Amino acid sequence: MKKILVTGGCGYIGSHTIVDLLQHGYEVISADNNSRSNPEILDGVEKIIGRKIKNYHVDLCVFDDAHAIFQENPDIIGIIHFAAFKAVGESVENPLLYYDNNLNSLINILRCCEEFGVPNFVFSSSCTVYGNPDSSPVTEDSQMKKAESPYGSTKQMGEEIVHQTANSNNIQSVLLRYFNPVGAHPSGEIGEIPIGRPANLVPAITQTAIGKLPQMQVYGNDYPTRDGSCVRDYIHVSDIAHAHTLALDYLIAEKNKTNCEIFNLGTGNGYTVLEVINTFEKVSGQKLNYTIAGRRAGDIIGIYANNEKARQVLGWTPAYNLEDMMLTAWNWEIKLANNTSK
Ligand code: WQD
Repeated sequence: MKKILVTGGCGYIGSHTIVDLLQHGYEVISADNNSRSNPEILDGVEKIIGRKIKNYHVDLCVFDDAHAIFQENPDIIGIIHFAAFKAVGESVENPLLYYDNNLNSLINILRCCEEFGVPNFVFSSSCTVYGNPDSSPVTEDSQMKKAESPYGSTKQMGEEIVHQTANSNNIQSVLLRYFNPVGAHPSGEIGEIPIGRPANLVPAITQTAIGKLPQMQVYGNDYPTRDGSCVRDYIHVSDIAHAHTLALDYLIAEKNKTNCEIFNLGTGNGYTVLEVINTFEKVSGQKLNYTIAGRRAGDIIGIYANNEKARQVLGWTPAYNLEDMMLTAWNWEIKLANNTSK
């Protein structure tokens, strides 16, 4: 069997990727200390797949603990590294927490990759590495501006660390730059579980609609866009997940031309915040209680992807549209509310 280590496997994108890997013939183990995730998400994975997934409850910043996973699993042939903190605002308030956690965990995993000769490595990156682009769509060759936050810096540095380590150790690697992952698995068994008040748009929408939040704010409607609100490229989390499986297939088949290749994961469509809200109201039948507030520090005006490279090289095609994203997110929020009320 092709055994894959998924770090951050109890997270939002990690859990959806585990489902896709298992559905495509891979064997999977997870490593997640649940500092920002809920181990019960793997129960949802089990309901979808019908098998239990082993999670190593370890802090990957502790080298010996990371190393022990590889000693116990010498047959790991690939790693997908999700484990990282990703709250932009928190990173601005506490930069060293982000540099310490996101970079030391990555370095430890790469050291194990070197020592145990793991040939394939997929790195969870982000469109945030582009900073505030001059124009969209952005391609993988678009200029990387100064990151807008320490979180974004850890992704820019992380890409460089992977690239240089892959070069020096003949590791075959792929960097996947997610745009805005949203939505939930169509089964309703797994989805995003924000910790505390959600910073991101879609969980803020669904928590307001279900009544967990009294009201939400639209951060600015005076931007130079179609309706004054910011533009982002929202992409369904299951489409993001499947791209990871295709990236591993690509590396294992040795189709890669260099040992560090980059792919944008976005739909190629930019939607404004107000368009997302209108789409949510349409598919859910819920009128959303929101007000227009001032701009949020650090927000960029707009960005969306040129995803041709992932389409051509990986054979990846996003399957979900914005309505699907809103409906699956809403169904998941309803599921969470029902579980809480039990
Ligand atoms: C989107 C738009 C907000 C909340 C995120 C992650 C980042 C990275 C990229 C993974 C912005 C507006 C939001 C609200 C609002 N992901 N908004 N009211 O900032 O593009 O970045 O995706 O690597 O980690 O933070 O996404 O969902 O926070 O914001 O008006 O209550 O929605 O101003 O224009 P963002 P977001």
